[in-house]
Amino acid sequence: MNHAVEARNLIKRYRNFTAVDNISFDVVEGETFSILGENGAGKSTTMRMIACRSPLSGGSLKVGNFDVMKNGREIRSMIGIVPQENNLDPDLNVKENLLVYSRYFRLPKHSIDKRCDELLDFIRLSDKKDAKVDHLSGGMKRRLVIARALLHKPKILLLDEPTTGLDPNVRLEIWEKLEELRSVSKLTTILSTHYMDEAEKLSNRLVILSDGKIISDGVPREIIQSNVKKYALEIRGLNAAEASFNHPKIIMQKRGSTHIYFADSMEVLTPLLQRFAAKQPILRPSNLEDVFLQFVKN
Ligand SMILES: Nc1ncnc2c1ncn2[C@@H]1O[C@H](COP(=O)(O)OP(=O)(O)OP(=O)(O)O)[C@@H](O)[C@H]1O
Ligand SMILES: [Mg+2]
Repeated sequence: MNHAVEARNLIKRYRNFTAVDNISFDVVEGETFSILGENGAGKSTTMRMIACRSPLSGGSLKVGNFDVMKNGREIRSMIGIVPQENNLDPDLNVKENLLVYSRYFRLPKHSIDKRCDELLDFIRLSDKKDAKVDHLSGGMKRRLVIARALLHKPKILLLDEPTTGLDPNVRLEIWEKLEELRSVSKLTTILSTHYMDEAEKLSNRLVILSDGKIISDGVPREIIQSNVKKYALEIRGLNAAEASFNHPKIIMQKRGSTHIYFADSMEVLTPLLQRFAAKQPILRPSNLEDVFLQFVKN
């Protein structure tokens, strides 16, 4: 199995603050890999080191078999970057934003126009190609930044929070585009997110960061299976006396005004479902958010 990224004991310090604290992980070629974590966990810092935009304070980092400390130019030509903030040029229209960026990569002149049109078509913005960037919606801007990152046909795409702040429909649209890229062009995709559902849906494997450290890593389903019970029953608005329930196969957790009962089979939860039917309980499979909250709680 070829690795697109190999990070070993990676460290990033800002003065005496450690933002990334001795993390090791591999990204396999062609997979979608997520870096998951709450605000300040170290996601963008890790992405910037992979993109050769921030030097390491310790450890080693290889991207496509090149060392980020020695081969920045080679690495930059093989990665496409979607930064956390859209940094489009507001003075240029949609297509001009792509054309100007293509100059950084010295793409052959005769093919640039065609490549831009192809990408505008891919992100469904062909009819907006003459529009000012300021007139685009948040989702359209995000799609344009993704197209821009693909101009030079990178082998690895880095997306720092691709869908933060976008509404659910637009998020779905972006997810579809990323799935399409994975299946059609076998692109290795590394994305950071604080949306557990996004990481669970899109990634083959992931790491969860907290305070710069990896607190869990692996295949999303396996992380869920090995850390929490299979089903979760959510009930809102119970008082402490009502909520109290002792059963050897059920684990109870309180999150704000919601009580969550975890068990490995639905049958075990059935008596609770019946008892609290009037409270409109929700029975669902456990998810990454359950894992994450369990780690953060501890
Ligand atoms: N240039 C910098 N100088 C000093 N501290 C920094 C710098 N960049 C990041 N940090 C600190 O490093 C930590 C990790 O920041 P980072 O931006 O990597 O987090 P993140 O996981 O991307 O968070 P978010 O979800 O908010 O984007 C934070 O505590 C942040 O304040
Ligand atoms: Mg960030």
